[in-house]
Amino acid sequence: MNGDRVIVVTGGNRGLGREVARQCAARGDIVLLGARDLAAGERAARELPGRVRAVRLDVTDADGLAALAEDVTHTEGRVDVLVNNAAVHYDTWQTSVTVDLAVVREALETNVLGAWQTTLAFLPLLRRSAHPRVVMVSSEGGSLASMGGGTPAYNVSKAALNALTRTLAGDLRRDRILVNAVCPGWVATDMGGPGGRPVADGAASIMYAVDLPDGGPTSTFTRDGRPVPW
Ligand SMILES: NC(=O)c1ccc[n+]([C@@H]2O[C@H](COP(=O)([O-])OP(=O)(O)OC[C@H]3O[C@@H](n4cnc5c(N)ncnc54)[C@H](OP(=O)(O)O)[C@@H]3O)[C@@H](O)[C@H]2O)c1
Repeated sequence: MNGDRVIVVTGGNRGLGREVARQCAARGDIVLLGARDLAAGERAARELPGRVRAVRLDVTDADGLAALAEDVTHTEGRVDVLVNNAAVHYDTWQTSVTVDLAVVREALETNVLGAWQTTLAFLPLLRRSAHPRVVMVSSEGGSLASMGGGTPAYNVSKAALNALTRTLAGDLRRDRILVNAVCPGWVATDMGGPGGRPVADGAASIMYAVDLPDGGPTSTFTRDGRPVPW
């Protein structure tokens, strides 16, 4: 199954998205590397091995998503895996008490509604796949079980993304579309900052859900393939 799939990665121009694109392309998959800045996407795609095509993909742009899905219908004709990776605002500078709600709105717009409408845009193409999967790149920061104060926009948005994961997983079960959330761990990207683990390790945690076999689990939340409490 691996090696001949059509994989869409949002936020593929840098960080974990770029590394997921690299790992998929290295094994022969066709990667549609989504970037809201197409030039940045094309720069990233040029540096990756294999069949990588940069596409303009802003998860907050419904018209752009519809146009891209139409384009992919005529080119690849299906999507096997959608990796909802794009996210904003790891807001370590504020608390839920000092919060700028404009930042929260932006986080919800991108991290939750963006992933939601991207999934809906690609749903007809996922339904054309024999092995459809949706991967939500979440964070343990969204775990209600361990949630305390801090990073309010980010944590609330990831908790909502986790709820979305379970809701979509339930509603898409009859379509045999596996929908799972993953935490990549603390990773040394622009968002994670220095000190985190290597990007390849974080991406491997995402690849676990990309590579689930037919009949594999749906509605799970894992890091490195092991359950994270919701
Ligand atoms: N790094 C960590 O320690 C860590 C830990 C837990 C979870 N995560 C999660 O892992 C995922 C990737 O994080 P990262 O560390 O790789 O972050 P990053 O380096 O900040 O990259 C974020 C990516 O998302 C893109 N993006 C932002 N808004 C977008 C939009 N509206 N439409 C399309 N793309 C958009 C960015 O594009 P631009 O280049 O155009 O800004 C960039 O490509 C995120 O979901 C994050 O929450 C990361």
